[in-house]
Amino acid sequence: MKRIHALKVTASAAVLAAMMGTAVAEEVEVLHWWTSGGEAAALNVLKDDLEGKGVTWADMPVAGGGGEAAMTALRARVTAGNAPTAVQMLGFDIKDWANEGVLGNLNEVAAAEGWDTVVPEALQFFSKHDGNWIAAPVNVHSTNWVWINKAALDAAGGKAPASWEELVAVLDAMKANGITPLAHGGQAWQDATIFDAVVLSLGNDFYKASMIDLDEEALGGPKMVEAFDRMAKLRSYVDDNFSGRDWNLASAMVINGEAGMQMMGDWAKGEFLKADQVPGKDFVCIRFPGTQGSVTFNSDQFVMFDIDEGKDSQKAMASSVMNPAFQSAFNVVKGSVPARTDVPDADFDDCGKKGMKDLAEAGAGGSLYGSMAHGHAVPASVKNAMYDVVTAHFNGEYDSATAAEELVNAVEAAK
Ligand code: GAL
Repeated sequence: MKRIHALKVTASAAVLAAMMGTAVAEEVEVLHWWTSGGEAAALNVLKDDLEGKGVTWADMPVAGGGGEAAMTALRARVTAGNAPTAVQMLGFDIKDWANEGVLGNLNEVAAAEGWDTVVPEALQFFSKHDGNWIAAPVNVHSTNWVWINKAALDAAGGKAPASWEELVAVLDAMKANGITPLAHGGQAWQDATIFDAVVLSLGNDFYKASMIDLDEEALGGPKMVEAFDRMAKLRSYVDDNFSGRDWNLASAMVINGEAGMQMMGDWAKGEFLKADQVPGKDFVCIRFPGTQGSVTFNSDQFVMFDIDEGKDSQKAMASSVMNPAFQSAFNVVKGSVPARTDVPDADFDDCGKKGMKDLAEAGAGGSLYGSMAHGHAVPASVKNAMYDVVTAHFNGEYDSATAAEELVNAVEAAK
C-alpha cells in the first residue's frame, strides 16, 4: 500500500525529473530510534532537507535508546524479505550486516563527492566493507560526558569536578542539598554508557586493553575491580525509581533541577536545547572526570540495503546526509558533531565547539576509542555479554571482584 501511495505522490515529480533528464526520486523508508524530543527535532532537519529535494519520507521509528529494539525490528524486516530503504546503525552492527552480503553500494556518490578525503579513518572503518562505501555517517557522538544542572552545581560549590575525588565530593554536596545527585535510567545500555566512561577514567591503555583488545588480564584484573567499585559508588547516588527509566526522562530530571547531573552521551544535549536551556548558563558540559583529552565515540550511520526499488532515493539520501551544510544544521540540534572534518564550528554552541575540538585532538593524539556501550568497540555478541555483567553488578547481583571474574567468563563465551 505504502509504495503504491508513494509512487502516486511522486508521479508528477517523476515526470518533471524525466523531462529534465535527472534521476527519479521515490520515497525513503527510514528505520531509526530517534524518538525523544531532541532526537526528533534533529530528525526533522533531515526529513525537511529530503522533502525539499522531492524525496518522500516514510517513517519507521522503533523507540528504545541505544537502538537494541530497532536492531531486533530490522532483523524481522530483513528476514521477511522487506528491508527498509535506509537504516540508522552503529559500528559493528554495520560490519555484521555487511558480512551477510545484503547491503547496497554507495561508491558512486562517495567518489563524486570525495568522501574519502573528508571522513575520518575511524569512521571509514565502519562505513566501508571490502573497500566499498556501504554507509553514510551523519554524526559523531561521544559517551564520556557529564551534563550538570548549573544552579545545582553552584549550590554544591560551583566548581566542575576534574577528578574522581572531586566528582564524589560534588555528588555528596548535591545529596546534602536534598536533590538526587545522579539522574540515571536503569537500562543495560545506560549502565554500559557510564561504564565506558568509568573504565576510560582508569586510563587509556586500560580502556583499550579491556574494551577493545579484550585482554583477559585487563578484563579480570585489579583495575577492573576498581572500575566496578566506582560503578557501585555511582549507584549510591541514583534515586530509587531508576529502574527502566528512559534516558531522556533522566535528562529531564537534570533540566528541571530535580537531579544534579547525568552521565550520558552528547545526545543528552539535544534534550537540554529542546528545553531552551543554554550551555554555561543553565547547564554545564564536562568530560567525565579523569577522561579529559580522551574520547569514546560512536557514529550514527545510514546504511542502505540492497533493494530492488528505490536506489535513486538511497543515493539522494546519502548525498543529503553527507552535505556539509546539512551536517552542521543537523548536529547543532542533535548534540553530536559532524562526521566530516571540513565543517566549520561557527554555528555550534560551546559544548559543540568543545566536542569538535576534543574529537580532533583525540584523533590526532591517539586517544580516540570506539564506545563499547554503543557498538564501536566490539561486535554485538561481546557487547551484550558485557552489558549483562555490568547491569547485574549495578543492580547488586555481584560484588566487584565477582563482576570482574564474570566479565572474563562472559566475554570468553561470547567471542
Ligand atoms: C545512541 C545513538 C544516538 C542516540 C542515543 C540514544 O546509540 O548513537 O544517536 O540516539 O543512542 O537513543
